[in-house]
Amino acid sequence: MPSEKTPAILPSEYSPLRPARTFSRKTLTVLWLLLFVLWTYDRLLPLDSWSAVKSPNVYVPANAQEILQKCNAINTRPDLTTLSSFLQKRTVSDRYDPGMRNMSYLITNATIFTGVKDDDGNVQTLTGDLLMTNGIIRALGEDIPRDLVMEVDPRKLTVIRANGSWVTPGLGMIVDVNSQLGIFSSPPLRGKHDLDSRKGPILPWLRSIDGLHTRDNAFELALAAGVTSAQILAGTSNSIGGQAFVIKLRRTTEGSALSMVVDPPYELNTTGFGKGKPPVWRHLLQSCSDETRRYGNRMDMMWSLRSAYHEARRVMKLQDAFCAKAGAGLWEPGVDDFPENLQWEMLVDVLRGKVKVTNDCSEAVDIDNMVRLSNEFGFPIATFLHASEAYLVPSLVNGSLEGTPAVALLSTNHRHSRESYRGSEFAPAILASHNLSIIMTTDQPVINSRELIDEARKAYHFGLTTDLALTSVTSTPSNALGLGYRMGVLQEGYDADVVMWDSHPLQIGATPVYVWIDGMKQIPLTKDSGRSTYSTGTGPEQVVEPDKTRMEAPGQPSYEKERQDTVDWDGLPPLKGRGEGNRVVFRNVKEVWTRGRNSIDESFVADEDEFGIVIVEQGRIICAGSADDCIISGDERTVDVDLHGGSISPGLLTFGSPLGLEEIASEPSTTDGRLFNSLAVDVPFVFHDVGGIVRAVDALMFDSRHARMAYRLGVTAATSSLAKPHRLYESDDSMIWGISTTFSTNAAHGLEPEAIIQTETALHVRITRPRFDVRGPATSVSTQIATLRRLLYGWESRDKDTGLYFRKAAEGVIPLVVEVHNADIMASLIMLRAEVDAKIGGQMRMVFVGATEAWLLAKELSRARVGVILTSLKPVAATWDQRRILPGLPLTNQTTLGILLDSGVVVGVGVNHPQMVTETRFQLAQAYHDCVSSATAREVYGLATINLEQLLGVKGIEPESADLVAFDGGSVFNLSSKIVAVVSSQRGLVDMM
Ligand SMILES: *[C@@H]1O[C@H](CO)[C@@H](O)[C@H](O)[C@H]1NC(C)=O
Ligand SMILES: *[C@@H]1O[C@H](CO)[C@@H](O)[C@H](O)[C@H]1NC(C)=O
Repeated sequence: MPSEKTPAILPSEYSPLRPARTFSRKTLTVLWLLLFVLWTYDRLLPLDSWSAVKSPNVYVPANAQEILQKCNAINTRPDLTTLSSFLQKRTVSDRYDPGMRNMSYLITNATIFTGVKDDDGNVQTLTGDLLMTNGIIRALGEDIPRDLVMEVDPRKLTVIRANGSWVTPGLGMIVDVNSQLGIFSSPPLRGKHDLDSRKGPILPWLRSIDGLHTRDNAFELALAAGVTSAQILAGTSNSIGGQAFVIKLRRTTEGSALSMVVDPPYELNTTGFGKGKPPVWRHLLQSCSDETRRYGNRMDMMWSLRSAYHEARRVMKLQDAFCAKAGAGLWEPGVDDFPENLQWEMLVDVLRGKVKVTNDCSEAVDIDNMVRLSNEFGFPIATFLHASEAYLVPSLVNGSLEGTPAVALLSTNHRHSRESYRGSEFAPAILASHNLSIIMTTDQPVINSRELIDEARKAYHFGLTTDLALTSVTSTPSNALGLGYRMGVLQEGYDADVVMWDSHPLQIGATPVYVWIDGMKQIPLTKDSGRSTYSTGTGPEQVVEPDKTRMEAPGQPSYEKERQDTVDWDGLPPLKGRGEGNRVVFRNVKEVWTRGRNSIDESFVADEDEFGIVIVEQGRIICAGSADDCIISGDERTVDVDLHGGSISPGLLTFGSPLGLEEIASEPSTTDGRLFNSLAVDVPFVFHDVGGIVRAVDALMFDSRHARMAYRLGVTAATSSLAKPHRLYESDDSMIWGISTTFSTNAAHGLEPEAIIQTETALHVRITRPRFDVRGPATSVSTQIATLRRLLYGWESRDKDTGLYFRKAAEGVIPLVVEVHNADIMASLIMLRAEVDAKIGGQMRMVFVGATEAWLLAKELSRARVGVILTSLKPVAATWDQRRILPGLPLTNQTTLGILLDSGVVVGVGVNHPQMVTETRFQLAQAYHDCVSSATAREVYGLATINLEQLLGVKGIEPESADLVAFDGGSVFNLSSKIVAVVSSQRGLVDMM
């Protein structure tokens, strides 16, 4: 490692005329005189002539001064104290945008989560006021100086009475490109697709800023979710994908990518090296992700990295040697150019400790490789991103000699690849117990940037403390990025990136009421922001009335045992419940909901002051009521379960993902494999069916971890089709996806009596435009709809499955479930349905899945009795087909779900990926929060139970024998509750979790 103490080498210090030690007084005086004369010369003449005068034999290049300054600069690391003192002196932000309407804001009476750690280790939360002027936080706390407020031009001051509302720093993200922000734009288009380069594994000379689009709808969506800054990385499929940049998501007057970057390195648009300015951190992405496999295996990758760093070290040594000579005045004619190397300069800076390196590395083996690399070459690692296995090897993470990296994680999105297979929802809490820094992050397309705060909420639910959950998306990422001196915390003199929430930010559904970046209000959108996609009116101005019932963080269930099991079993704890055949008594029950034929019924509700008792024998509820109603007879063996005011309600159903049809999406050997895309290839003759219709039931695999996890989180049944999640597979523009099946998520194999609930559920097709990056021909939408029309008209013989099932669908015997996002395609399908009904005389049961743009056709859908299954409550435009999203608060008052329910459309909710099935309970909580005005709690519960069944035509779940789920400490709608048991009358037992 180059020493930071390399002296500031300046010519005078190295003058060859320095006096020797053993001179007489007289000689010394003469020498001093001589020196004085020379010194005067130096003052009067430029450097090169000075050397000419002084010693005609020594060659000194014309730009010696500059070279020496450069030599000094290359070894100066960014320094927190210098950087912060530079900023602390500001009264006007260096990011102040004179082209914008710059206002000052005084927030009064707020609850301020500062993100600053007190001496006791807790994060400071203040009650009081916050003043923002000229882009910076001028004062905050109980008694802010009045003269500061008086200084502000009153015409430019907005006062916001917060009434106790929560105020936090703007959220910051460490994101990979998949986050869609800027690089992989929303909606993605080929002409805008600057995700990663295919030109090799090692590309440290590429810069994500060169592909950063400043006009991206995703910025606004992220902003509305309180996200104010993001690290933009490119190239997770390269070992070194390129230089990363941290940007603020505010539109600037200049409109350039550079003007969005926080502390841009001076080299970006300057010749030279920012003379005199303190050096700032640079950022680099290294990756060990699965996708780097295109360049070889792990050993190949490590060799590419080592040889790259070897090259960089060679360049660094050349530079150091050159500078040492220059510093000593030993110039050589012809060797007077600083040995610059544009290709390797980034890695040289990594070696010099001037770069925050983010490593997208998940598995222990990768973490180990990277730590060894960093130790071999002596550079620090800032962050391990998506480090699924970090919690299993905390000491390994700690093993980097150059400082401990932070760990950036997703909460529940695991098991979709080998590298995430051991990922755990308990990882944040486990890592925190080892004192590692936790950052929660997102990962498109599964978790979009709108859901950053949701990731923190779930991390909290599964055991992270309130403080750490909030810092995981504010100060921890900004510190990891080396920007902790200006953002991520609320402190005097810092950038005014501030969010005000309508309730405690960790409450499900809590929404920003205001968002500021650099003291400029971004949310609510003002009319004069003009360029916005959403032309809604402004939100509440001046006085904020927070939701008084949600001002505290929700209760936190205890998952201590699960956490310990996860560690003990190396990330793969057994997930099966413990069947209890004896009598089980649930105490302190607040509510019991059961299933009617077409409704969720309220069987028992406790009085205000007294919770009830539920007695279960052989998996059947024999009594639910007050202690007086349900007498527990003595002698039998009884298991007592205290629900602490919790509830019992029907097991949930999931739809939309290939749950039960694959274990690890990215591992072909764990999936069903590819279907024939009958519009692209001829289905083999031996198949004897032109449409290549298949049944999911034939490929079901039980006992998968996805299914077991689903069961543990209350999803007791699933309807799955063979449709691969859109976008991830080459074959995903197939149209016909066969016949779905409905099964129990708890069964061990398909021959168990209750394993398969319904062999054949519905017929599935997908109508979509070509993928944005399609190579070669793609089936047109017109061809797809024409094919569908012919099949429904009955042109195929019913002797074959294609003819048979499409006839069944045309007659309404089974539902036709169409995955479709675009309103125009939906309109065509509604017309098609009318045609088919007229022709066949049947009543088709058509259901749209995904249906992002369905809100545009709510009335028409209702009139045509077409149902909708939404797979995202926080949509983003992941394809062009989905571009007209209705985002919901704070951008729009309404949501797609609300509009559909209000219009009388039958709606269900589902997910796209098997690992997301565990989200169902959080989805219902979000839906409940979004739709208080449109639906009752039981109606919302129907979204993942009876509505879904009705839409998909699931008939096998009998009201009397259906599974029930017991929640401890709340209901499905609270983050505070935990699922502790499944009551199964069919199996005659209670499954204890
Ligand atoms: C400050 O907020 C609290 C909590 O909402 C409220 O009770 C109180 O009246 C407010 N005080 C002022 C001065 O507005
Ligand atoms: C470089 O870009 C920044 C930000 O846009 C700007 O403030 C600065 O003046 C630019 N420097 C030069 C030399 O153009």
